[in-house]
Amino acid sequence: GTNAIAVAIDGPAAAGKSTVAKIVANELGYIYIDTGAMYRALTLKVLRKQIPLNEDKAITNLLANTDIQLKQSDSSQHVLMDEEDVTSAIRSEHVTNNVSYVAKHAIVREEMVNRQRELARKRGVVMDGRDIGTHVIPDAEVKIFLKATVEERARRRYEENVQKGFAADLEKLKEEIEQRDRIDSKREVAPLVQANDAIELDTTDLSINDVAAAILEKVNKVLKNRGG
Ligand code: CDP
Ligand code: CDP
Repeated sequence: GTNAIAVAIDGPAAAGKSTVAKIVANELGYIYIDTGAMYRALTLKVLRKQIPLNEDKAITNLLANTDIQLKQSDSSQHVLMDEEDVTSAIRSEHVTNNVSYVAKHAIVREEMVNRQRELARKRGVVMDGRDIGTHVIPDAEVKIFLKATVEERARRRYEENVQKGFAADLEKLKEEIEQRDRIDSKREVAPLVQANDAIELDTTDLSINDVAAAILEKVNKVLKNRGG
């Protein structure tokens, strides 16, 4: 409706952003935009084409010729890259461990942010990532910064792997998460940092539903104040 707002959810890897963002979007009837999936889709293509990760111009050219779509079907979201369904391919360890090197290039981010702002233009969106509240939608009406200890975040990824029947090494997952957080936090352009006006939620000891409820409460308060 005319009263719809933008909800920005940022935070480090496995803090619970996408799980919670989907629930919140669903409850509000908003669209959910997974910006990490966009960087992952590009990274998948870069790896397939064996473009060196430091070649920012070549990667940007590739992005200019890459169509990335986030498609909502029933309750699940699908990621399409050049019309190929890459929903699971972009979650591979190979993509996960390389995505931060692709995402740190200024000119790559510029194009991604343009696309993301276009997607958020109509409001009624929940968008998650690393720089949503600080850079992509600095005027988002609700900004959330999710965090959790790295031990808990590694445990969550470990559980996901076990449930999928994959071999998993908790210590290795923890190191990979720390490495990605480090690159994301230290890059020059739009690093992972909490916006001044973001609400911080430590999810270490919170359930998914607790976190979703806390965010919905903030959103509903804002909507009420806007007279809707
Ligand atoms: O869900 P997970 O924490 O594994 O990561 P993601 O949200 O899928 O994001 C993957 C990577 O994309 C991050 O580690 C960042 O390097 C990059 N990213 C970014 O730079 N800016 C965003 N707005 C979203 C993701
Ligand atoms: O998107 P992000 O990388 O921040 O995290 P996610 O993929 O939404 O969540 C990582 C895992 O943690 C998922 O398996 C969630 O089910 C789980 N999770 C949890 O156990 N407790 C929470 N409060 C939030 C997420």
